[in-house]
Amino acid sequence: MRYSPIGIFDSGVGGLTIYEEIHKLLPNDSIIYLADSKNAPYGDKTKKEIIDISVKNTDFLLSQGCKLVVVACNTASTNAVKYLREHYDIPFIRVQPAIKPAALNSKTKVVGILATKGTLKSELLFETSQRFAQGVEVIEQVGEGLVTMIESGKMHSPEMTDLLNKHIKPMLDKNIDHLVLGCTHYPFLTDQIKEIVGKGVAILDSGEAIARQTKVILGEEELLNLEQGDIRRIFYTNKDSQVMQKILDEFDEGFEAIKINF
Ligand code: DGL
Repeated sequence: MRYSPIGIFDSGVGGLTIYEEIHKLLPNDSIIYLADSKNAPYGDKTKKEIIDISVKNTDFLLSQGCKLVVVACNTASTNAVKYLREHYDIPFIRVQPAIKPAALNSKTKVVGILATKGTLKSELLFETSQRFAQGVEVIEQVGEGLVTMIESGKMHSPEMTDLLNKHIKPMLDKNIDHLVLGCTHYPFLTDQIKEIVGKGVAILDSGEAIARQTKVILGEEELLNLEQGDIRRIFYTNKDSQVMQKILDEFDEGFEAIKINF
């Protein structure tokens, strides 16, 4: 099992921001990435739909021999990981919005979180805010339209700038000093968001923390691959492979987006 790949899935290309961190920290591990872009956005779906989709994605990754699955999607993590852990034998890593560090370090005692509707209305997010953000106001904003725009290849477009301004300006008016990116698609927008929020607002995502957690769990389960062997990196998508290919090209490692019927 040590030599088996790590599986990662997301509702599309967003989880590639998590892939990048995992790949840096675990260079000896093979990775199979599944972009379920056909079903994006997950954020508007019901909990039951998100669980069903997550089961399907997990079954696919298991059929590819994965030893662990990283649910590189906040919406699926907050809604489906509990179910997955109860029904499968392998370890699951979930992503979680970085509310804790944001609340801990906030001077204004007001922090913003930009995430999908599915994440913001989840129990897990509610519990996280209750537990770690006592005495801090958490301004929640649904990033309506952002995932769809990224998935349709309009990451850098005037429409994207307008949409980001529309979502973020109201949070700035409330004096946030930390902005949590609670969706794995959003780190692709960090430079554009920086332009809007300026230097006074720290932007937090959870990519590094997830990679560290993946390493810890692989270690505990004696699944860490310590040898430099035959490393495979495979990227599957069930929709437009061009959007994914453009991002993979930026990694500059000659990766190919493979279109599958799934
Ligand atoms: N990357 C997913 C997340 O982190 C996007 C969810 C969606 O498809 O709406 O939530």
